[in-house]
Amino acid sequence: MENVVKKMTEVCKIEPRAEPSWQLKKSNGVKPVNPEFIQSFNHDLLSWFHQNSRDLPWRRTKNPYYIWISEIMLQQTQVDTVIPYYQKFIERFPTIEALAHAPEEDVLKRWEGLGYYSRARNLQAGVREVAEKYGAQVPDKKKELLSIRGIGPYTAGALLSMAFGEPEPAIDGNVMRVMSRIFLIDADIARARTRKLFEQRVAAFIAETDPSAFNQSLMDLGAMICRPKNPNCGACPVRKYCKAYEEGVQQDYPVKSRAKKPRLADYAVLLISDSRGRLMIEKRPSTGLLAGLWQFPMISMTGHGKGYVRRSAEKTFGTRCDLHKTPFTCTHRFSHLIWNLSLYTGKLDEADKMGNRHWVTPEQLERYPFPVPHQKVIEWMKKNYSMNS
Ligand code: ADE
Repeated sequence: MENVVKKMTEVCKIEPRAEPSWQLKKSNGVKPVNPEFIQSFNHDLLSWFHQNSRDLPWRRTKNPYYIWISEIMLQQTQVDTVIPYYQKFIERFPTIEALAHAPEEDVLKRWEGLGYYSRARNLQAGVREVAEKYGAQVPDKKKELLSIRGIGPYTAGALLSMAFGEPEPAIDGNVMRVMSRIFLIDADIARARTRKLFEQRVAAFIAETDPSAFNQSLMDLGAMICRPKNPNCGACPVRKYCKAYEEGVQQDYPVKSRAKKPRLADYAVLLISDSRGRLMIEKRPSTGLLAGLWQFPMISMTGHGKGYVRRSAEKTFGTRCDLHKTPFTCTHRFSHLIWNLSLYTGKLDEADKMGNRHWVTPEQLERYPFPVPHQKVIEWMKKNYSMNS
């Protein structure tokens, strides 16, 4: 039997691992960590953080409303991209009341280009709840925070630790990458329940230190050193605790199952002007992809051949519309979908069926929130197209 195990281990290249000395007995599925290890790890991590942390605008405040905004913006978006959006957003909506009372379109306009617009709509819905139910004071209790629209375990943890100094983990992708490497955690981070495992792990560390600095130091370590590709282990302050470094398997962590391939969708985008040089735009439905944003009319072309765009436009507008294909094309990637857009121009005066469409002057376009590929259409139009031609 022993021989069989030995052979299997060789075939699978699995080294039978000795229990690390700093790990104690198993309980709750997560091995408790020796207190000296925690102290030493926290000391090294936080010393590094105090010398190297990034000077970010939301780190200069304890205002929970501002921290809330920053944390929502930072989900799926890089720090450098977020900074100017964050600054303009809090300038335009400096208080809970200001955001609660703002028209949704104004909020989407300030979010224009950041993507994942449901974040903005949920943030505003959550802020309205806080205004109505909590007298415009962000609650400092986990249960209450989790009941608010748009606040999940990550945001609740970030708010509790950074605004209120509570020892709550804030587990995002960066933190899972760092911790999975340090402890060789094999759980698939694409699965929702894996987060709990990391929460339990981080909870033991955060209880012994400054919670805000601890969470943010893991974030900075993940962003600056323990990067997804080519981690800079030579500069890592906690390298000596890292099992992945010890075994040379940093690139194999975290374990993440592959996302489904995004679906491809072809669209014709119609830049239609009237005799007064106004342009036709329409509002997207109030739910689903890019809900509530504006766009130039789009015709789905997936599976259709030449000629379809004209027939479909005629049906849509209830009148004939000569369309001309332009050289402008654009590809836009969402997490689950890829848009391939081709731009057509046309003239129309009396579209019988205007539906949810408006005529606006080119100057008025500025007031409406457009998704990024339609902003590119506007840029192209300004450079290349005259409505009177
Ligand atoms: N990513 C998410 N939250 C962050 C924070 N507070 N600082 C830096 N990066 C972050």
